[in-house]
Amino acid sequence: MSKIYKSITELVGHTPLLEITNYEKKHDLKAKILVKIEYFNPNQSVKDRTALGMIEAAEKDGRLKPGDTIVEVTSGNTGIGLAAIAAAKGYKFRVYLPDNASIERFKAIHALGGQTVKMSEVPVAVKTLEETGGDFMAAVKAIKAQVEATETDIFFTDQSTNTANAGIHAATTGPEIWEDTDGDVDILVAGVGTGGTISGTGRYLRSKKPDLKIVAIQPGPDSLPSEKNPEPDEIAGVHPFEGVPESFVPASMDMSIYDEKFEVENYEAFAVCRELARLEGILVGPSSGAAVHAAAEIAKRPENAGKTIVAVLPDTGLRYLSTNLFD
Ligand SMILES: Cc1ncc(COP(=O)(O)O)c(C=O)c1O
Repeated sequence: MSKIYKSITELVGHTPLLEITNYEKKHDLKAKILVKIEYFNPNQSVKDRTALGMIEAAEKDGRLKPGDTIVEVTSGNTGIGLAAIAAAKGYKFRVYLPDNASIERFKAIHALGGQTVKMSEVPVAVKTLEETGGDFMAAVKAIKAQVEATETDIFFTDQSTNTANAGIHAATTGPEIWEDTDGDVDILVAGVGTGGTISGTGRYLRSKKPDLKIVAIQPGPDSLPSEKNPEPDEIAGVHPFEGVPESFVPASMDMSIYDEKFEVENYEAFAVCRELARLEGILVGPSSGAAVHAAAEIAKRPENAGKTIVAVLPDTGLRYLSTNLFD
C-alpha cells in the first residue's frame, strides 16, 4: 500500500526513541538512557508540534481565519515551526525575535516566507525589558497588546499562555513515549522554556504511571547573564523557572509537574553535544546536550540502576553551526 503524505502537517511528531548505547558504555551507566530525537520533525525541532497544536486549535474554535496573519514572540524554534505550518496552510506569519537568536533561525524563517522583527527595533519591548529588569514574559505581553490594539486579522499564538502548547505534548509526545517503551519508563528529563514539553508530556505519562519521576532542567548560575558576564553562551530555549520572580515563569509551565529541578551549565551542555556527535552520530543543540547531561548524572545515582530514563532532545545542532557549539 502506498504511503504518500499531502501536507507537512501530517509529518509532525512520531519521532524516534534511541538508546544511546555508546554513551552509556563510555560512562559506565547502569540505567538506560533513551533519547527522543525531535529533529525528526519536518522543521527539525520539537516546536513543530507546538506550532501545529496552536494553529489547529485556533482554526477549530474560529480564532484563526483564512487570510489572517499569525504573530508570535519567540527565541526561535517556535518561529520556524509556525512559519512552516503557516506556509503549508496559506497564512502570513510574523515573528518578534531577541537580537541574539542564532542567524540560522532568522534565515530559516525568511526562507519559509515569514517576516522577522528584532525585539530591539520595537520601542515598547525595549522599554518593558528595561523597566522590568529583563522580564521576557512582560515584553511578550507588551508586544501582544500593541499588535492587538493596532492591527486586525491577526492571530497571536502566544505559546507561553496558550493551553494548546502543553496540550499537544499531552496528546502526542507523551503517548508516543508510552507506546514506544511499552510503558517501561521511570524518569522523564526535559528542559524548560515555555514549559509546554515537560508539562504536557509529564501530564500524560503521570496519568499512565503515577510514580514516574519528572526532572526539569534550568540553566546554572554561570549560564545566565550577570554583571561579571553579561552575555554568557546560552542554552538556547531553556530558561530559569525557580529562583526568578513569579512573573518570569510562563503560564504554560505547570510548576506542580516536576519532582526535581536540575541545573546544567552551558559548558556541560556543549560538551555533551560534542560527545553525542562523535559517539552516536547525533547532531543536536545545547538544550539536548543539557538533557543528556542531566540524564547521565541521574543515571549514576545508585537508586536508579536498572531504570529507564527518557530525555527529550528538542532540536538539531545544524541550527547552531554559526556559534561556538562544536568548536
Ligand atoms: C532548543 C529548545 N530547547 C528547549 C525548549 C523548551 O521547550 P518548551 O518551550 O516546551 O519548554 C525550546 C523551546 O523554545 C527550544 O527552542
